[in-house]
Amino acid sequence: MTKPLASVTAANFDVEKIRADFPILHQQVNGQPLVYLDNAATTQKPNAVIDAISDYYRNDNSNVHRGAHALADRATVKFETAREKVARFLNAPAAKQVIWTRGTTESINLVAASWGKANLQSGDRILVSAMEHHSNIVPWQLIAQTTGAKVEPIPVDANGSIDMRAFEAMLDAQVKMVAVGHVSNAMGTINPIEKIITLSHAIGARVLIDGAQAVSHWAVDVQQLNCDFYVFSAHKLFGPTGLGVLYGKEDLLNAMAPYQGGGEMIETVSFAGTTFNQLPYKFEAGTPDIAGVIGFGAAIDYLNSIDRTAAAAHEQALLNYAEEKARATAGMKLVGTATDKTSVMSFLLEGAHPADVGVLLDKQGVAVRTGNHCAQPIMDQFGIPGTVRASFSFYNTFAEVDRLFVAIEKAKTFLL
Ligand code: ALA
Repeated sequence: MTKPLASVTAANFDVEKIRADFPILHQQVNGQPLVYLDNAATTQKPNAVIDAISDYYRNDNSNVHRGAHALADRATVKFETAREKVARFLNAPAAKQVIWTRGTTESINLVAASWGKANLQSGDRILVSAMEHHSNIVPWQLIAQTTGAKVEPIPVDANGSIDMRAFEAMLDAQVKMVAVGHVSNAMGTINPIEKIITLSHAIGARVLIDGAQAVSHWAVDVQQLNCDFYVFSAHKLFGPTGLGVLYGKEDLLNAMAPYQGGGEMIETVSFAGTTFNQLPYKFEAGTPDIAGVIGFGAAIDYLNSIDRTAAAAHEQALLNYAEEKARATAGMKLVGTATDKTSVMSFLLEGAHPADVGVLLDKQGVAVRTGNHCAQPIMDQFGIPGTVRASFSFYNTFAEVDRLFVAIEKAKTFLL
């Protein structure tokens, strides 16, 4: 695919106006204006999110669902309104199919433990792609150990794309779960999940999509995808840390046993036996992250207030611009060159350890992530310890990409 080399973006996307909404971006780091290119690790928060959390603690702080007073009512309404906003954001059929968790990791652990315990047995197969984040590998290994199922990697080629022929060849009646990332956090590959879902359903397998790296880039429609589970974290979607979402099909969620016991998730408790609450509360034991949920509701409102199509085009233009510069930079090697990619540029400087590159970029005010990105199997396959990863969001600018490359050239003078 020929990508345009152009430091231009959609005329209707005013990046400076967007940047004004994110206070953290306007600071100096090591004597230079911050260039934040670690958006795949976590995105920054707009004023609307920071203010919603602060406003909740200043005015409404109270526990949800069980209070008999005005503050508890206000907190509950805001909390449940945020759930409805997320349901609309995903086009979920009902808000009760949106379960609050601590993050993508807990969402996957919940499905693996609860759905897996009831549905997996010895000889069953769980397929995950070889490029998965550890959070979409290890929970499946844990439930495989207790059920006798096997976790098998779907091969990934040298460009960082799923080998779809190999995937199709792996499918048989023993495959009960296919768990894949929508977008690779290590390389930015956009996986062909529509095809993966259709093929998996054809042999009766369930599909979990890890959307942690996708939701910040484009609208996701879980009904159109027809996935069984879709999971992501609030903090990678301009919301607070420590909060995540599990979307599931209603019949599957209804059939699943609670993941944790405690308050909120019960209907009645007695020593003769306990009955459980309905969706979504069955999976939400204990006092939830009320401030986080309300802050996340503000993040969804914020996203709905901007032109997301133009934002996505801007991100794509930034990636294309950066990758074109990378190809023209001596000693720089891209890791992950799939045709369909979004917002992640992983790379190596030949002869330099990624960690050393990261330190030298930081000294120049440029924030990137280095290491294996919690995706050790794919790094092992490529025979590398890790990469330097620059990841873009819609608040980044072409001038910041230029700053990244000036910093890389300077790092090279120290390292190569
Ligand atoms: N999973 C996050 C990342 O890839 C932390 O950076």
